[in-house]
Amino acid sequence: MSWTPSSWRAFPIKQQPTYQDKELLEKIESELSTYPPLIFAGEARVLKEKLAAAGRGEAFLLQGGDCAESFADFNAKNIKNLFKLMLQMNMVLMYTTGKPIVKVGRIAGQFAKPRSSDFEEIDGVKLPSYRGDIINGIEFTEEARIPNPKNMLKAYNQSASTMNLVRAFARGGLADLNKVHQWNLDFIKDNPLGKRYDELSTKIDSSMKFMAACGLNSDTMPQLHQTTLYTSHEALLLNYEEALTREDTDTDEWYDCSAHMLWIGDRTRDLSEAHIEYFRGISNPIGCKVGPSMEEDELIELIDALNPNNEEGRLNLIVRMGASKIREYFPKLLKRVRDEGRNVVWSCDPMHGNIEKSSTGFKTRNFDNILSEVEQFFAIHKEMGTIAAGIHMEMTGNDVTECTGSTSSPITDEGLASRYHTQCDPRLNASQALELSFMLSDAITDSE
Ligand code: PEP
Ligand code: CO
Repeated sequence: MSWTPSSWRAFPIKQQPTYQDKELLEKIESELSTYPPLIFAGEARVLKEKLAAAGRGEAFLLQGGDCAESFADFNAKNIKNLFKLMLQMNMVLMYTTGKPIVKVGRIAGQFAKPRSSDFEEIDGVKLPSYRGDIINGIEFTEEARIPNPKNMLKAYNQSASTMNLVRAFARGGLADLNKVHQWNLDFIKDNPLGKRYDELSTKIDSSMKFMAACGLNSDTMPQLHQTTLYTSHEALLLNYEEALTREDTDTDEWYDCSAHMLWIGDRTRDLSEAHIEYFRGISNPIGCKVGPSMEEDELIELIDALNPNNEEGRLNLIVRMGASKIREYFPKLLKRVRDEGRNVVWSCDPMHGNIEKSSTGFKTRNFDNILSEVEQFFAIHKEMGTIAAGIHMEMTGNDVTECTGSTSSPITDEGLASRYHTQCDPRLNASQALELSFMLSDAITDSE
């Protein structure tokens, strides 16, 4: 059972590209393996401790970002808007629940996508599916769809620049608690939700004034001035992940240094396959999606393969059943894991089980279904006496029209066309995400 960063190669694997130029692939892999890591192992260990606290109900995990990052949409404004949205959601959740919020972005590496079909057909023309910018191009041409190993270098470079800006925002003053009003995004400011957020900001301002009068301000307390946004992505393309896997000299453990946290998708979590093999050897905090096809015994085996020492904070199970299925499929899994005493950080992905096609032909999600899945997730945990530890969502800080519904920014089937920009799945826009966080803070408070 010896493990190496490349031992996954001896196992069957799903959802991978077939590279035509093997020599080029090897050249790129070896080049990447000499590049600096994007994170430091010590940061991943701190995140694990924070996730352990979330698993015990002492903190809450807020994980979100694009379904797929793209080379074309790479700019400072998009990164800044997502960062500000995360801060706003953080503030709503922290203020109402009184718990620290562990912020993890689907950012700086979220480039590889599993697909439901290997091919896409439009008007009788059949081409290989788009698999994310780290693999091939989204344009519907034969050339764009050929997997290109060089995209891995571009993905690494974009991740490094994104990470650099995120760290600058987090440490350089944008996250200062004296600036809560400024995080409100322009297009939200005037709607009822923006006003609700503004009221909360005013209360925080008063607390800050009070604390300053006591001599506690951002000059004396870095906690008031700085924050941390951790990075995460689905580690689907193992050629890339292997090249960034490094041995930590402090602990002699292996870490995937492409992000702080990595997760396994619902389509690639087969126990006898390559992704489980790769993940069992890295010491980062990790996640695994849990969809309706998961069996009870299978889940226990999966937990034991990925977290044999039952370490707290190591394994985040991301439940994504769908609003109409969670009641039927989730309670028995939760009960079994609880009864067998496995330490797991349970979070709710109310996005991936709620995909539908709009009457106008768009891949979308309805806000009511998203809310309903979140509410049911919390209710089931309450019934079982277990902890609903986090939320996992696809969202953007921009004013897109990709998901229907919500009261703050009601989008109809007809309205989807106006700003439908996603590279892959439909994301909540900033107002929808903020609305969800107000509802979430009620759910967290109610569950206690
Ligand atoms: C995703 O998170 O973008 C995704 C593809 O999810 P899942 O593996 O749950 O389908
Ligand atoms: Co998605």
